[in-house]
Amino acid sequence: MSDSTVMIIGANGLLGQKLVEFLSRGTTNNLVLAGRSAAPSVTVPDAVYVELDIGKKQDIRDAVTLHKPDVIINTAAMTGVDACEGEREQAWKVNVTGVENIVEAARRENARVVHLSTDYVFDGKEGPYSEEDRPEPINYYGRAKLASENHLRSSEVPFVIIRTMVLYGIAAEVKSNFALWLIRNLEERNPVRVVSDQTGNPTLVDDLAHAIISAVELQKTGLYHVAGREILSRYDFALKLADVFGFDRSLIQPVTTAELKQPAARPLKSGLVTLKAEVDLGYRPSTVIEGLTILKGQLSRGPKRLPDSAPIPGRKR
Ligand SMILES: NC(=O)c1ccc[n+]([C@@H]2O[C@H](COP(=O)([O-])OP(=O)(O)OC[C@H]3O[C@@H](n4cnc5c(N)ncnc54)[C@H](OP(=O)(O)O)[C@@H]3O)[C@@H](O)[C@H]2O)c1
Repeated sequence: MSDSTVMIIGANGLLGQKLVEFLSRGTTNNLVLAGRSAAPSVTVPDAVYVELDIGKKQDIRDAVTLHKPDVIINTAAMTGVDACEGEREQAWKVNVTGVENIVEAARRENARVVHLSTDYVFDGKEGPYSEEDRPEPINYYGRAKLASENHLRSSEVPFVIIRTMVLYGIAAEVKSNFALWLIRNLEERNPVRVVSDQTGNPTLVDDLAHAIISAVELQKTGLYHVAGREILSRYDFALKLADVFGFDRSLIQPVTTAELKQPAARPLKSGLVTLKAEVDLGYRPSTVIEGLTILKGQLSRGPKRLPDSAPIPGRKR
């Protein structure tokens, strides 16, 4: 990718920060970071930062017209699955109208769009799912994400849609995620209840960021599933995390999804088949043990502080 201008929207989120970190190591990209806060979580020399709300058409139009990106990577979203179920208007505004605003601005400036979606577009009856499988969302977050995919697909803008699932990793001042929630609680010897009937392939955010950058560099278009190497239950993931970090496994109690009574329905037998990404993008997902070992190393090198908020398992997608 030579002399491209890449705009990362949602640059202060977990995935956004990873993309910023990796892309800023290259020398040939002009980076434009965009996020909702007044200042970026991490500053990068020579990168421009724009404060914007993707739900506001004029914000997006102004930023894209001014900076003329070749590629827009949209990682911004309302990611709380239960919050989306309860605050549907806001969820639609961010996760669908926000994407429509980005697509419209991209069309005017001939930019390509890379957009992030989720395994929650599927019902979880017979995963793992390939790109060919039929989406059938069972909660509002999944429905909105599918609507955003469909909008992009029916636009005239060259696009990549990347579906991923259960992201884990660390970046500055990010919200908690499943792995960080486990680490914070198990470190303090708090018992945790973890669902044993939701399966999928948890994804190290670093792996996902590398796959996205490959898709951009190789100028790919279309739909890709990008997730971790192993399909397992959240409970089994938690046990592996305890082993890697040296925590007491007996603190982890298995529960069923029905027992947790989460506001939004969850796909149970999920998982994403990543073969297309492996072949087309050279994607090489980490195993759970490899991913957690990388995370442990990153945490030990600090100074990142674990987020205080402790979401219920599976809440953030
Ligand atoms: N995390 C997962 O397990 C998972 C699984 C499947 C798919 N995905 C998808 O992957 C993408 C990245 O996820 P992530 O975990 O990196 O999410 P994240 O850490 O929650 O980051 C999302 C970012 O979007 C920003 N944002 C929210 N509403 C906005 C708005 N109206 N205008 C501008 N920015 C806004 C947030 O800002 P604030 O901090 O101000 O809210 C936050 O910085 C999302 O599209 C998500 O749906 C994630």
